[in-house]
Amino acid sequence: MKNSPIGVFDSGIGGLSVLSELVKLLPNEEYIYLGDTARVPWGNKSISTIKEYSRECTEFLMDKDVKMIVVACNTASSLGIDSVQHAAGKIPVVEMILPAAEAAYKSSVNGKIGVIGTKATVRSNAYQNAIAKYNTFDNLKVFQQACPLFVPIVEEAMIKHPAAKLIAEDYLSVFKDSNIDTLLLACTHYPFMSELIAEILPNIRLIDTGNAASRQVFNILKENDWLHDQIKDKLSIELYCTDTPSDFLSTARTYLSFELPQAKKADIC
Ligand code: DGL
Repeated sequence: MKNSPIGVFDSGIGGLSVLSELVKLLPNEEYIYLGDTARVPWGNKSISTIKEYSRECTEFLMDKDVKMIVVACNTASSLGIDSVQHAAGKIPVVEMILPAAEAAYKSSVNGKIGVIGTKATVRSNAYQNAIAKYNTFDNLKVFQQACPLFVPIVEEAMIKHPAAKLIAEDYLSVFKDSNIDTLLLACTHYPFMSELIAEILPNIRLIDTGNAASRQVFNILKENDWLHDQIKDKLSIELYCTDTPSDFLSTARTYLSFELPQAKKADIC
């Protein structure tokens, strides 16, 4: 078990923001990443479709004998988690919501927290409910905003395009008078836009779901004595996607500072 890989999946490239946090904290682990690029975005799909895609991605990773599933997708974490858990059986599943909700809650001083995510994540109220669980503020207020166009902007590597700025200014204008001190990036694609978000909403702490979740991955592996027992001199990552691997890889390489191997096609859909 110790030296089996960790399976990570997302609808596309977004989960790589989680992978980059994982490799920082756990560089000796082996990773299998699956991006469902043929069907991205998931965030405006129905609940039953999100559940079905989440199950198919989990089954693909389970066939590779992973020791853990990391649901590097907030949409799947909000709405598809039961199908992931069912397909994963006894293998631990780490989702994005609870660790990030706790991190956002702890970061806020005034109890005013913004959440941006896909339409499906925002509609599910998963974050609002999770943050409320930790609440000790008298005046806790969670402001949610769906930013559906952020996903194609990231998938198309257009984060520096003037259109990205216009769209982000429009979506984020709802927070201007909200007095939030913390903004939760509740979609794993959004950390790739964090520079632009911080420029539009300066002096607000941005919480990244991958950072909080990777600490949970570390804790679970450590508690179970499942940390990989060999020191590696280079990262061990296998990349899969459900559409053209060369396109996936060239976009992925624009976001990550570490070497990525050739991507392979996963025939799950
Ligand atoms: N990156 C995913 C998330 O965290 C899904 C985005 C999408 O496919 O719409 O929600």
